Amino acid sequence: MRRQFYVTTPIYYVNDEPHLGHAYCTVIADILARFHRLFGDKVFFLTGTDEHGQKVAEASQETDRTPKEHCDLMVQRFKAVWKKLNISNDDFIRTTELRHTTKVQEILMQLWSAGEIYEAEYEGWYCVPEERFWTEKDLSEGKCPSCGREVRRLTEKNYFFRMSKYQDWLIDYIKTHPRFILPESRRNEILGFLSGTLGDLCISRPRERLSWGVPLPFDENFVTYVWFDALLNYYTAPLSRGNNCWPANLHLIGKDILTTHCVYWPTMLKAAGLDLPETIYGHGWWLVEEAKMSKSLGNVVKPLSLVDKYGVDAFRFFLAREMSLGMDASFSEAALVNRYNSELANDLGNLYSRLLKLIHTYCDAKIPPKKTDNSRIGDLSDEAVSALKEKVRTRIEELQLNAALDEIMAFVRGINRAVEMAAPWKMGKVDPEGTKVFLRQAIEALANVAGLLYPVMPAKMSRILKDLGIEFAQNPCLEDKLNLAAGHHLPQKAALFPRVKLDISSETPTPEPKKETMIDIAEFKRINLKIAHILEAARAPKSDKLLVLKVDLGDETRTLVAGIADQYEPESLVGKSVVVVTNLKPAKIRGIESRGMLLAAEKDGKLALIIPDGEIAPGAEIL
Ligand code: MSP
Repeated sequence: MRRQFYVTTPIYYVNDEPHLGHAYCTVIADILARFHRLFGDKVFFLTGTDEHGQKVAEASQETDRTPKEHCDLMVQRFKAVWKKLNISNDDFIRTTELRHTTKVQEILMQLWSAGEIYEAEYEGWYCVPEERFWTEKDLSEGKCPSCGREVRRLTEKNYFFRMSKYQDWLIDYIKTHPRFILPESRRNEILGFLSGTLGDLCISRPRERLSWGVPLPFDENFVTYVWFDALLNYYTAPLSRGNNCWPANLHLIGKDILTTHCVYWPTMLKAAGLDLPETIYGHGWWLVEEAKMSKSLGNVVKPLSLVDKYGVDAFRFFLAREMSLGMDASFSEAALVNRYNSELANDLGNLYSRLLKLIHTYCDAKIPPKKTDNSRIGDLSDEAVSALKEKVRTRIEELQLNAALDEIMAFVRGINRAVEMAAPWKMGKVDPEGTKVFLRQAIEALANVAGLLYPVMPAKMSRILKDLGIEFAQNPCLEDKLNLAAGHHLPQKAALFPRVKLDISSETPTPEPKKETMIDIAEFKRINLKIAHILEAARAPKSDKLLVLKVDLGDETRTLVAGIADQYEPESLVGKSVVVVTNLKPAKIRGIESRGMLLAAEKDGKLALIIPDGEIAPGAEIL
């Protein structure tokens, strides 16, 4: 029978652009989902956006949009990034969707009727600018611990969920279910947290303070606390599709949102009479120079710029390979380049090109038939391949993605060694038949590796398989033998992963610098260049090349027409900062007045927008 694998990512706040941290969690969930499809499991993979609450309300105010308009715009960015990262989610839930909010209200009503929610006066220290309550303990020298400003004593009516009554039950549940919270360090963290007194959870916000939320069904003067609403997405999404896959098998989350997932969520489910997820896994953080990525530190790594440089598969491979799930890891582009060159370009890419070349030379470019005579195939036996598959499967089920990749890459190195040992370039002359037997087995082992790496690098691996004449089904099964058809004609070469740093021994001549017309600084100064923020982007009517952009130049908004439509999806541009020539005479292009010009670089038909390195306000002048 097919097993079920229901995996989720956190739903992301729409007040920010997706960065490396978000991309990490989504890519890992995607890789696990794809592995489970490979195992033949029935997979439901959910991601989405968390759209209510203070943060989003504030972010929308800054842009003069309604919260819903803001969400509608921002959600496109997440969707565009996921598309570019080849994310195969089965559903995308937005907490503003009716299918979610109605169910949230139903559950709230159920808990209210059952007496699990009660009304009480809440008294605490309130920070007006931060719009939040603090307890006496939280305060720092009597002031707001977050912004350092004065706080005032305030009493407010609110609604509370009786979370405290589940404390003992939860401790017992965690202790008797060792796979409920992983890794173990996180489980201990939560048990440590639960050794203190667990209070009840305030689940409402008065409308007069915050109106952007799901209204409480039993008191219209209040909206639901954003986490109470958000966590329920994991339950409401499959339910709304008539998919009865709840409880989830895996909630993949970052370690900063452990308490909400491991304390609030299970107690909410218990009170509502629903089953608990099988595993909540708290992964580590990507750090940049030892610090967590944040907008204010200006060290945010944007996934798309890496994808544009190194390709989506290399980016996915790096995320999965470099960080051992659960631990923190430092991000550096140098580490990415290093991994890329050593494992993708050298180990895997070269092996593939080498085998293609050898088969061209010694087998007339055709896949040789399989023989039972296994005397010359070294470690590449069918048994070795099956054992690898089994090991990978176990590792993935244990959520040791990194270790699974270790196994696969070690096997790739094993194929390389076998080629070195067999030395077909020598054997070919004295034992043509034996050479064919060997090369058949080597290319078949590589095909199986490509099948195993498909969840990590779907684009490049399906390309290898296609070259080898295998149409990889949408949901291939790991147990299936990847049968290579004898006689299939192979391409001569395939530069799968060209090295990313120019090799100094490369014979590629450095092009002579172009002779240029010189200008003086005064001439240059006549050009006004400014930073603009792209607010909207759409295709120009009846044009494949042109995009119409609305940009913010600090003190004004302008419309530009840019010939970049064949290289940039309009959605991917919204929110980007670019450089604009502002004093170019307006021009009418396809009936639309373009007031300015976007700067972009072009080489060999590839286009790249000029983008500032770091955050800078629109209107900033380029000096
Ligand atoms: N909206 C909540 C989640 C609600 S789930 C019911 C939220 N959103 S978030 O957008 O702020 O963060 C989403 C995830 O990104 C978290 O799991 C967080 O750990 C992860 N990351 C944010 N920065 C990160 C790194 N630098 N590295 C790895 N992941 C990190 O929280």
